[in-house]
Amino acid sequence: MKTISIINLKGGVAKTLTAVSMAHILAVFHNKHVLIVDNDKQGNTSKAFRVHSYDTKTIADVLTARRIDPHEAILHTGYEKIDVMPANMNLIRANLEVMMDSTRPQQTRLRAALDAVAGEYDFCIIDNAPDINISTINALVASDDVIIPIKIDEYAFDGLAELKEQIENTRDDLNPRLRLAGCLITCFQRTEADKQGEEWLKAKPEYPVFDTHIRYSEKVTESTFAKIPIVEYSRRSGAAIDYVAFVHEYLERGKK
Ligand SMILES: Nc1ncnc2c1ncn2[C@@H]1O[C@H](COP(=O)(O)OP(=O)(O)OP(=O)(O)O)[C@@H](O)[C@H]1O
Ligand SMILES: [Mg+2]
Repeated sequence: MKTISIINLKGGVAKTLTAVSMAHILAVFHNKHVLIVDNDKQGNTSKAFRVHSYDTKTIADVLTARRIDPHEAILHTGYEKIDVMPANMNLIRANLEVMMDSTRPQQTRLRAALDAVAGEYDFCIIDNAPDINISTINALVASDDVIIPIKIDEYAFDGLAELKEQIENTRDDLNPRLRLAGCLITCFQRTEADKQGEEWLKAKPEYPVFDTHIRYSEKVTESTFAKIPIVEYSRRSGAAIDYVAFVHEYLERGKK
């Protein structure tokens, strides 16, 4: 199982859209078994797959309960090859609980849970909150690859250096497999600002950038309201075409 963290300290940059679209494309176009982990108290990924609830076990239980079988916190979706480990606001309390309980390892709990189900999936995609906290550190410790979605605006690159440092520290201390697969430019519009932002980032050797960028499409908002992945909702929208191309590029790069 290859585990990918979708992460950026900034909010609203299309982390969730990228996680949901990638999971959907890997499952439906590439026939892969995918586990998507919702690692954000907002629960947007859980909502996108219609499994958001307070009646089921969630990632909060995985992080805090002793001897929990991770299968208990994994739900099937309407897609045969996609399962979800959901999240809800209980993740706030769980984070505090993990921080206060130093009697057992605090940073490797998600990895231990994912190791237990690794044989059942080809890919695990972790959708993260716009933060660095014990949840996101657990995600980085459990991951092979990191993808950083970036939406170009005047503050687009804030926090990038801090995130890169966190990735490097996690690699040095706890997870030598961890790799920054690349930055993905999202919500791209043909404005001068977007073109310049993309060029600026591509000129920085310390930040690999995917060749594919994701265009802004009005259909995206409609698809999130309808809780249907964009590629299914509007296959011909720019965002759908680009997400398919992006997943192809990601898989091809991984072969090298
Ligand atoms: N390519 C796109 N075209 C149009 N709208 C988009 C596109 N990508 C993202 N959006 C919109 O931008 C908003 C933020 O997207 P999303 O929820 O995926 O971001 P996020 O980084 O997960 O946010 P948060 O930090 O709150 O978790 C959503 O309303 C989404 O519909
Ligand atoms: Mg999100």
